[in-house]
Amino acid sequence: MNVPVSPVSYVSVFHYGLQSMANAGAEPVKQLLKLIDPLATDALGGALAAALLDNVDAIGAAGFQLYLSGDLGAGKTAIVRALLRGMGVSGAVKSPTFALLEPYTVSSLDFYHFDFYRLKGAAEFDSAGFRDWFGPGRICAVEWPERAGARLAKADISVELTVAGEGRLAALHTSSELGERCLNHAVANLQMLDDGLSLPAPAHSSSR
Ligand SMILES: Nc1ncnc2c1ncn2[C@@H]1O[C@H](COP(=O)(O)OP(=O)(O)OP(=O)(O)O)[C@@H](O)[C@H]1O
Ligand SMILES: [Mg+2]
Repeated sequence: MNVPVSPVSYVSVFHYGLQSMANAGAEPVKQLLKLIDPLATDALGGALAAALLDNVDAIGAAGFQLYLSGDLGAGKTAIVRALLRGMGVSGAVKSPTFALLEPYTVSSLDFYHFDFYRLKGAAEFDSAGFRDWFGPGRICAVEWPERAGARLAKADISVELTVAGEGRLAALHTSSELGERCLNHAVANLQMLDDGLSLPAPAHSSSR
């Protein structure tokens, strides 16, 4: 397939409707982004942050699940860190590799950052009571979601990261109307960044 390369500074937004190679048969890929360097990864996290902040009320009612897949070092934590920064978290953002969970508060929402790489199967997911952390008023960003198997609530947005040359490819999927809305919003934000514009102030401010 010929993928057009747009003449942008650091983020290229490609096709709608591609099937994921790594996830064939699951949700179709809504956006495929070439993230040419770590700044582009930060831009994606920031664009998602602005989109989520503009949907705080809907997330308060429904909750929001963002799942991030990809090999060790693919950039999952990098996206979550930029997302948290964009939502106003100014303190340390540690990878939850050992703790499995790092909690934050953003705007009026709880934000739980999980990393299930070290989860010892679905039994540990159950015994730790992780299912109870998901739900209305919570944003759950989950690295290595496949380790929790079918126990997880469905993703609103899922990101599959692969190393591509010196950069990364991010395939983005949605499985809810809220996820679709937030992704469209985030991609519009990325296009503004590519055009050299700054993102508009979110409708809600954040805390911590
Ligand atoms: N677009 C990019 N191009 C090149 N390097 C990148 C890009 N985005 C992030 N990186 C680099 O890749 C690394 C990603 O590390 P990160 O901890 O985010 O990976 P991870 O997917 O969370 O891994 P793990 O599974 O171990 O938690 C960092 O060193 C970061 O600087
Ligand atoms: Mg990580």
